[in-house]
Amino acid sequence: MKDETRLIHTRKDRLSRKIVNPPIERASTVLLPTRDALYGELPTYGRMGLTVHRELEAALRTLENAAHCRLTTNGLQACALAIASLVESGDHVLISDSLYGPTSRFCTRRLKAMGVNVTRFDPTVGAGIADLVQDNTKAIYLESPGSLTFDIMDTPAIVRVAKNRGLLTVFDNTWGVGLLHRPLDLGVDVVLQALTKYPVGHADALGGAVLTNSDRLANKINMCAEDWGISLSPDDAYTALRGLRTLPARLKQHEESAYTVARWLADRPEVATILHPGLESHPEHDLWKRDFKGANGLFGIILNETTIEHLDAFLEALKLFGMGFSWGGYESLLIPCCDQLDRLETDRIHNRPGPLLRLHIGLENVDDLISDLAGAFEVLSSHP
Ligand SMILES: Cc1ncc(COP(=O)(O)O)c(C=O)c1O
Repeated sequence: MKDETRLIHTRKDRLSRKIVNPPIERASTVLLPTRDALYGELPTYGRMGLTVHRELEAALRTLENAAHCRLTTNGLQACALAIASLVESGDHVLISDSLYGPTSRFCTRRLKAMGVNVTRFDPTVGAGIADLVQDNTKAIYLESPGSLTFDIMDTPAIVRVAKNRGLLTVFDNTWGVGLLHRPLDLGVDVVLQALTKYPVGHADALGGAVLTNSDRLANKINMCAEDWGISLSPDDAYTALRGLRTLPARLKQHEESAYTVARWLADRPEVATILHPGLESHPEHDLWKRDFKGANGLFGIILNETTIEHLDAFLEALKLFGMGFSWGGYESLLIPCCDQLDRLETDRIHNRPGPLLRLHIGLENVDDLISDLAGAFEVLSSHP
């Protein structure tokens, strides 16, 4: 069966009634009939998740081709859980420099406080990562495309080094969302996603998931999640599961519209560079073509030289593109990213002529989106 079919038919046969979707059981307390049952098999308490959580986990396992899934309250918590559950005081971790900012902050602030040393690496390092491995290196944390910079890693090359040196690999697959990219199939040990983005798809809930094929690592992740009391609300789990059923159809439209907008932008005189791994102009396009099955609605552009006043005039002129964090919903978004780029150590595009903008192409009519951008560019060039 193909992904679209498998994602719909992970449903369990529930005996009570023939309803299509699982019930949302809003529960902390679960009443149990005997003392044995009280201390028996899970779930015996709402924090462990109930029917809807089990069905969401099943669908996510299908999505990532994984044997185990642990749900979290949001994506950042999935990032933190995935890495923190694998390391202990005295260990060393290699993290990509273009990780999602708050993950990078978690590693440099919280892991360090746990006694774990962290070194950032250039996301395009490939097999050269071998030179950065120390005696106490335990894990490598990857994200591809990189947040904001959209660099593509040579994941198989990094995984080969990791396996040779006995290191674990963790991969933030929020962009690839399982349908476009399956890091576990490339030999990565632990994969995670922010369900908040494309799985939820409507900007109305947060969630995260950590997945693996290893029983041993799943055990570590589950124990850490239990110790930290990590859970996902039944309503958010339901929302994420509902989103997953229509994810393939939505994603195709995001991808198609984003290509149309990116190609239109490439011809604009105001735009210096398009950061879209699916375009041949992208420096790691060949790696992307080898390892990914498609693209989504998220990409970046670098404008030609401009002033902050002109940029503000451009942003204010946009009517359909909203300015707000997150992505993966049905609505188009555009944010300037320069303030977030200052933290990068290996920023290969630091010689930008103008600001870097991140666009999320939503499900609006693509001609309307292009007209919106064209109108804002007119304001940009005519601004005194
Ligand atoms: C790549 C990536 N990972 C993780 C997250 C965190 O997800 P959440 O906002 O659900 O905490 C984000 C959020 O933007 C993200 O872009």
